[in-house]
Amino acid sequence: MVSSVFAKEKQDGMPGPLHRPVCRQLRAHHAVMAAVHMRDLFAADPARFERFSLQVGELLLDYSKNRITDETMSLLVRLAEEADVAGWRERMFGGDKINNTENRAVLHVALRNRSNHPVRVDGEDVMPKVNAVIERMGAFAERVRSGEWRGYTGERITDIVNIGIGGSDLGPQMVVQALKPYRHPRLKVHFISNIDGAHVKETLESLNPETTLFIVSSKTFTTQETMTNAHYARAWFLAQSQAEKHIARHFVAVSTNREAVAAFGIDPANMFEFWDWVGGRYSLWSAIGLSIVLAVGAERFVELLEGAHAMDEHFRHAPLDRNMPVILALLGVWYNNFFGAESHAILPYDHYLRSLPAYLEQADMESNGKSVDRDGNVVDYPTGAIVWGATGINGQHAFYQLLHQGTKIIPADFIVSVEPHTNLQAHHDILIANFLAQTEALMRGRTREETQAQTGQFVSHKVFDGNHPSNAILLQKLTPHALGMLIALYEHKIFVEGVIWNLNSYDQWGVELGKQLASRILPELHADAPVGGHDASTNALINYYRRMSHPRTGL
Ligand code: F6P
Repeated sequence: MVSSVFAKEKQDGMPGPLHRPVCRQLRAHHAVMAAVHMRDLFAADPARFERFSLQVGELLLDYSKNRITDETMSLLVRLAEEADVAGWRERMFGGDKINNTENRAVLHVALRNRSNHPVRVDGEDVMPKVNAVIERMGAFAERVRSGEWRGYTGERITDIVNIGIGGSDLGPQMVVQALKPYRHPRLKVHFISNIDGAHVKETLESLNPETTLFIVSSKTFTTQETMTNAHYARAWFLAQSQAEKHIARHFVAVSTNREAVAAFGIDPANMFEFWDWVGGRYSLWSAIGLSIVLAVGAERFVELLEGAHAMDEHFRHAPLDRNMPVILALLGVWYNNFFGAESHAILPYDHYLRSLPAYLEQADMESNGKSVDRDGNVVDYPTGAIVWGATGINGQHAFYQLLHQGTKIIPADFIVSVEPHTNLQAHHDILIANFLAQTEALMRGRTREETQAQTGQFVSHKVFDGNHPSNAILLQKLTPHALGMLIALYEHKIFVEGVIWNLNSYDQWGVELGKQLASRILPELHADAPVGGHDASTNALINYYRRMSHPRTGL
């Protein structure tokens, strides 16, 4: 168990990351702030919005509805300074191998480096190969989009199926959905990730092999779920096309593993490469974004990269106290480590951003869900929050009850587009009014006196304490550029939190054990004799499954 207030003094004299000099002051300050209501802070300072809001390009961040004062922010910024956020930031942008357990650089920023300044890994400027792959993706996508690239019977491609999981699925899936208003009218993009056969089967049911193009997306090209689904899709395709030579027109690969791609039967000429310095959950900017390029075109994809680059430039050069990702990260640390908040809600008020929570779950929790610091020491402070969420307006009629009147403190990000993609202005106004009402209600609450004045009965049930923190992030419009900025904003927030917690945010050893055990269990599911090599529960469940299941195979 780790302490919920990141603050205990270390006994051995070595200052840990959260035992830095400023932490004592932050602890004392937290003791004061715990009793302060935001309602009073707003009443005392009519300029609070101006003080605690920041515009970067087409993104506005209002962080005034947080339990902070100027003193809070200056102490938190000192924490960032003491943690050497600026130094780590330079190490990342400079291509240092900050992913120490895998001995890799962390350079998703190079993938969208639209200024094209050299970025070196082991002395080699990676920009020429980054640019070459972007070119190839664009040229390939153009052939498919224009109809020049035909299937084996001469038909145009109508359906793209991305087969991948985790970062090879969630990022492109979220972006393709977010940019639906920009999509190519002929091309439908599907995503298959789940190893539950229902996913691949249901998806392929409605498709015609003659007009379907598969993208097998896997950094390693060894992931069991992806490879099983890819082999199934290949068999499904061959069942109709009857000739392996046709595979070249219907299967392309995105990977770092050329040999495995060739072994699968995909012509390496149809492989789009990326590199080990791109983490899976940070890879949508790489060739993993091929489905995005096919859906919205190379020009829009470049706008997405440009948006991310604009946020990279802001993150790299803005002072820490006017730096959007840094501010979001410091607020995250403030609630996580001082207020004991365990989770963080992502609440998009934009239908097209409905997959953002799932995307950020992986981005954040696979990065900072760690209990060992970068040097291998067990931490004695909470690290990554539980990230969760759903479209806000639906959440209002589901889980917001707990946000307003539950016993937990759950900081929330409200993400909103000022201009909608539809012309249904009345709908949009209702959406916006609800977003505003929710953040106001969370902050203000409703006092006993106000409640009494409005309603006589069940007053205690109807009181809202308020003082629940939220950020509002307003996009002018959900364009590729704004989306690129938004995603990069969160990527850098995650990075800064990881630096403050002294984590390696770029490995993911926590996913390995389950993978290992699954490969051991797989052959046991249909073993002739009862299985006995596990704990009693796992043995019993395997044996129950052996008895009760009726294996079926086939397309
Ligand atoms: O198992 C976790 C993970 O390694 C993620 O980090 C990654 O995004 C996903 O699996 C998919 O991996 P790959 O792209 O190698 O198939």
